[in-house]
Amino acid sequence: MNIILIGLPGAGKGTQAEKISEKYNIPHISTGDMFRLAIKNETDLGKEAKAFMDKGELVPDEVTVGIVQERLQEEDCNHGFLLDGFPRTLAQAEELQVLLSNMNRHVDYALHIDVPKDQLIERLTGRRICPTCGATYHDLFNPPKVEGHCDRENAELIQREDDQEETVKKRLSVNLKQTKPILDFYEERGTLVTVDGVQEIDKVFEDIQKKLG
Ligand code: AP5
Ligand code: MG
Repeated sequence: MNIILIGLPGAGKGTQAEKISEKYNIPHISTGDMFRLAIKNETDLGKEAKAFMDKGELVPDEVTVGIVQERLQEEDCNHGFLLDGFPRTLAQAEELQVLLSNMNRHVDYALHIDVPKDQLIERLTGRRICPTCGATYHDLFNPPKVEGHCDRENAELIQREDDQEETVKKRLSVNLKQTKPILDFYEERGTLVTVDGVQEIDKVFEDIQKKLG
């Protein structure tokens, strides 16, 4: 199954992607995670991406499309993939279409996690992540078993650099402009499915499973 996840920053893409990836046995490919790893490893890609991410802006399409193209050619994608946070512009959606059709493949589901923007600032500023395994928590909505520590790694949780309130506001305004054209793009192709993201995490996942069958 080839799935793309669409949703504003904080809608729960990463949270649901972990569950979908496990349940349907497909790799979770997050462009944001790939950029964060590149930044951590201080690669050229990381240096380029950091300049945009720190400001809450999008990394240029040609860079992002390039890393996705490479990743989709890896063997673990042969039986499906879950793209989280890509495509994020209409140009990326069009590029993905071409790229997949060259591989004789297509998007089965464009899964939209719908959360109104007024709920997202609290979700993002309260988010904490594990620096070791990337697991995502929230101070109020999804706390770890031991305060401040990852359930799996016991590592001390940290805040993502772009989760400062000012950067969060910028990310939301950038993404609000880009999302509607992408939803229209997949709606026209009959692959768009939408779930209500304003429910408990497990309830959102139940709805996703119903939609994906
Ligand atoms: P990326 O890492 O993709 O960030 P984002 O899109 O801003 O989305 P987030 O990861 O912040 O949110 P999420 O939807 O995954 O929510 P989560 O599950 O964590 O991208 C980062 C940057 O990289 C971009 O700004 C850009 O610069 C660059 N980039 C990436 N892709 C790009 C692309 N394609 N093109 C160009 N640039 C690109 O949940 C959020 C919080 O809410 C958590 O604390 C969680 O515990 C909590 N939560 C989750 N679900 C619920 C729920 N149902 N109820 C209550 N709380 C919940
Ligand atoms: Mg995410």
